Amino acid sequence: MIKVAPSILSADILHLEDEIKSIEKAGADWLHVDIMDGHFVPNLTFGPKLVRELRKITTLPLDVHLMIDNPEDFIAKFAAAGADNITVHSEVKAPVPQLMETVKGFGVSFGISIRPDTPLESIKEYLGIIEILLIMTVHPGFGGQKFIEAVVPKIALAAKLKSEQRYRYEIEVDGGLNDQTVKTAAANGATLIVAGDYIFNSNDYQKAIASLRD
Ligand code: DX5
Ligand code: ZN
Repeated sequence: MIKVAPSILSADILHLEDEIKSIEKAGADWLHVDIMDGHFVPNLTFGPKLVRELRKITTLPLDVHLMIDNPEDFIAKFAAAGADNITVHSEVKAPVPQLMETVKGFGVSFGISIRPDTPLESIKEYLGIIEILLIMTVHPGFGGQKFIEAVVPKIALAAKLKSEQRYRYEIEVDGGLNDQTVKTAAANGATLIVAGDYIFNSNDYQKAIASLRD
């Protein structure tokens, strides 16, 4: 069964609490929180304080996507703030095993994300020990971009390896997902769908989420 994680990047920030309540009622499974540092990606967004505030108003699992160069300096803060999952990018300097140990040490689920141009082979050794594999289907940094079709074979490969090796990770896809592109993603093995623009720019959140799930 497909799970849906609305990305609050596209929500109405001035009415965020209402947005979260609506998205909960509409059937969201996770809440995706995009953290950007202006270095790893050319944009700035939120910090641990927002995660802490979100934790107070929702029971939805908080999926924190760190698009930052120095995740090692912030994992503890996001864990303390109430993140349920922390995903780091494989392209940062700090070694993945060290980041994973830190995240798991807080009892938080651990994910690795790869940019559209990063091959799955580069993180093969970690596939057996992660909870989430986040495959970017746009270049990270902004909501509302177009789904990159060329990434689809990577989703399929992740699904193939998962079934062959009996790995447990969710195959999360992020970027440009809507009622059309989700078909390709799901048919190729995606299990957790992130969507910002498509959900928050619709006038019926429940319908939008259902259309991604079905
Ligand atoms: C992009 C972020 C995404 C973004 C997705 O760097 O990681 O989570 O919010 O937004 P849409 O669904 O609008 O492409
Ligand atoms: Zn994201």
